[in-house]
Amino acid sequence: MPRRPYVTVHLAQSLDGRVALDGMATPLSTATGRERAHAERAAHDAVLVGASTVRIDDPRLTVRNAPGDHPLRVVLASTLALPRGAHARSGGGKTLVIGAAGRALGEERALLEAAGVDVAVVAPDPDGRVAVESALELLAARGIERLLVEGGSKVVTSFLRARRVDRLSIEIAMRLLGAPGTATLGSLGVGALEHAPSLTNVTVERLGDNVLVRGDVVYA
Ligand SMILES: NC(=O)c1ccc[n+]([C@@H]2O[C@H](COP(=O)([O-])OP(=O)(O)OC[C@H]3O[C@@H](n4cnc5c(N)ncnc54)[C@H](OP(=O)(O)O)[C@@H]3O)[C@@H](O)[C@H]2O)c1
Repeated sequence: MPRRPYVTVHLAQSLDGRVALDGMATPLSTATGRERAHAERAAHDAVLVGASTVRIDDPRLTVRNAPGDHPLRVVLASTLALPRGAHARSGGGKTLVIGAAGRALGEERALLEAAGVDVAVVAPDPDGRVAVESALELLAARGIERLLVEGGSKVVTSFLRARRVDRLSIEIAMRLLGAPGTATLGSLGVGALEHAPSLTNVTVERLGDNVLVRGDVVYA
């Protein structure tokens, strides 16, 4: 059994802990932050996002603002349904879409494969979404050793709940988005402070007007 990938989460958030205005692309990174984010992509074998990030942000998930190769693009989409024109399913790198057994749709699979996209279906989690553990096993079996998770909120929450985030990298923008912005995280099931995941080996850097906080995740 191959070892599971080392997982880094990289996000940009507002000072009040929101990754976006609800339902819309919200570029919070500075130019330096984008360079850093692309350098992170180049340093990983694969970059993973959730289906809603593809639907809302339509990211290219390629390396453009830094030197280096494009990582494998991975999208978690339980039904395999993604917008036809999404960048992640077209040129500029290889893409793997992972669906959930019992929800993955045959016609969506056929459309993706006809567009040259690799498709895999793995075990669902209790909510019928792609189980984090199964996705990581699949990626490990495909030789992915370093995985960058770029969001959104639901996917990062699932990885943290599964205790599968090794390193966290958060670019904090000096903006307040307020409600109903999308909170960086949903429930982690933390009922007491001593059970909250924390960061160690923390570094703090300025990225123009923003601040980059990075550290290794420690689970209680
Ligand atoms: N600031 C940043 O750095 C940043 C980065 C990325 C995204 N964003 C923002 O985040 C927002 C999208 O975030 P989001 O939380 O709504 O959605 P998301 O995390 O991008 O995607 C969630 C969707 O992924 C699919 N999924 C499959 N397996 C999953 C699993 N195990 N756990 C969680 N989701 C799984 C589900 O859709 P199916 O049922 O279709 O499978 C789920 O609804 C957008 O507004 C975007 O702009 C911000």
